[in-house]
Amino acid sequence: MNFETMDKTYVLQTYGRNYVNFKHGINATLFDDTGKDFIDLTSGIGVVSVGHGNARLAEAICDQARHLIHTSNLYMIEPQAKLAKKINELVGYDVAVFFGNSGAEANEGAIKLARKYGEKKFANKRYKVLTLEHSFHGRTITTVKATGQESFHKSAFAPYPEGFSYTKGIADLYASIDDETVAVMIELIQGEGGVKAFDVSDIQALARFLKEKEILLIIDEVQSGVFRSGEFLATQHYGIEPDIITLAKGLAGGVPIGAVISKHKDIFEAGDHGSTFGGNYLSTRAGLEVLDILSSYQNNGFLRESIEIFERELNALCNAYPALFESVEGLGLMRGIRCVNGDVLGNIIKKAFENGVLVLKAGKNTLRLLPPLTISNEEMYEGFRRLSHACSQLG
Ligand SMILES: Cc1ncc(COP(=O)(O)O)c(C=O)c1O
Repeated sequence: MNFETMDKTYVLQTYGRNYVNFKHGINATLFDDTGKDFIDLTSGIGVVSVGHGNARLAEAICDQARHLIHTSNLYMIEPQAKLAKKINELVGYDVAVFFGNSGAEANEGAIKLARKYGEKKFANKRYKVLTLEHSFHGRTITTVKATGQESFHKSAFAPYPEGFSYTKGIADLYASIDDETVAVMIELIQGEGGVKAFDVSDIQALARFLKEKEILLIIDEVQSGVFRSGEFLATQHYGIEPDIITLAKGLAGGVPIGAVISKHKDIFEAGDHGSTFGGNYLSTRAGLEVLDILSSYQNNGFLRESIEIFERELNALCNAYPALFESVEGLGLMRGIRCVNGDVLGNIIKKAFENGVLVLKAGKNTLRLLPPLTISNEEMYEGFRRLSHACSQLG
C-alpha cells in the first residue's frame, strides 16, 4: 500500500491535501522524497517561524526531551515560568500567561476569562462577545461560532453556544454593543479572511472607547503574533494595550502551543481553567528558544531587512501581472496579494506548486504568503523568481 492510499484509508479525510511527501527542510526550503526542492512561503501556515531543521531549536527540544517532556501542571514547570516572564517583557506592560496547545484553545481560554470578568465586574453578568465578519478564531464549537463567517456555521454541528454576534467592520461595532456585551474580539490583520490590516486610528479609537466602558478588548494574534508583523505583537504597531491577547502558531516553531496573555491577573482562580499538555516542558522550552532566536533576529536588523526585500518583491510581482493581481495587503511577513478573482488564485497556487514554491490561499481571492521569519535573502529572491515564472505561464 502506498502512502497516499494509506492516508486516504486510515486518516479521517478533513483536508483537501497535496500528495507530496516532504522528507526534510533547511530554513525556507523543503525537499520531497524525489529530492525536488520547494521554497516554502507558507511556513506551515505561519508556524515554522525559525525555519525548517533549525539546529538551535532541534538541540533545545532534544536536550529537553532527554531530561523531561511532561510532568503535569500539578507541579511548577521551570521553562513555563521563564517563557511567561519572557512574554511579559516582550509585551511591554504587565501581563500573566496561561498556556494551551493551539490557537483555538487560546481563544477558548480568552472567552472564558472574559465571561468570568463579566460575572465579577457587572451586576447583570455580561457574557456577549462581538467579533467581525471575515474573522477566523478556530475550529472548536465555540471558536467556530466566534468566527464571523457563515460558511463555518454548518448546521451539522449545531447547536452552537449563544452570546456571539458579528459586525461588518470596526465602525459598525459601536452600535452592536449593548449592556450584555463583555468583550470585542478581533484580529488586527485578518489572516484567513483575506490578509486585511485594519486602520491604526480606527483601532486606537475602539480601544479607547472599550476601556472607558470597561468592555474587554481581546486581540487574536494567533497568526499575526511572535514577530510576524516585524514587532513581537502586531498590537505594538497599533500602539494599544489590549486586555487579552492570544498567541499560538509561531510561538514554539512547530511544537504545539497556545497562550492566553492578560493584564487581568486576578480573574482566574485555581480550578477555573486547565490543560493537560498546555505549557509542558517540551513546548515551553521550544518557545524560549524560538523567542531567543527571533529577538536577536529583530535586534540585529535581519527581520527588518527581510521585510523590506519582501515588500519590494511583492510590489514588483503585483505590478508585473496586472491581469492577475490587484493590490498588496498585510504587514511585515504576513502578506497577501489580492487576485482579480478566485479562479486566477486557484491557478496561481497550482502553477506555483509545479514550479517549486509553496503559497497559500486566504479569503476568496487572496494569495497569502507567510514565509519563515528567518528566510534567507537568496530563498526570498528564488521564491519570487519561481512565483513570477508560475504567473508568466498563466499569460
Ligand atoms: C487568527 C487565528 N485565530 C485562531 C486560529 C486557530 O488556531 P489553531 O488552528 O491553532 O487552533 C487561527 C488558525 O489559522 C488563526 O489564524
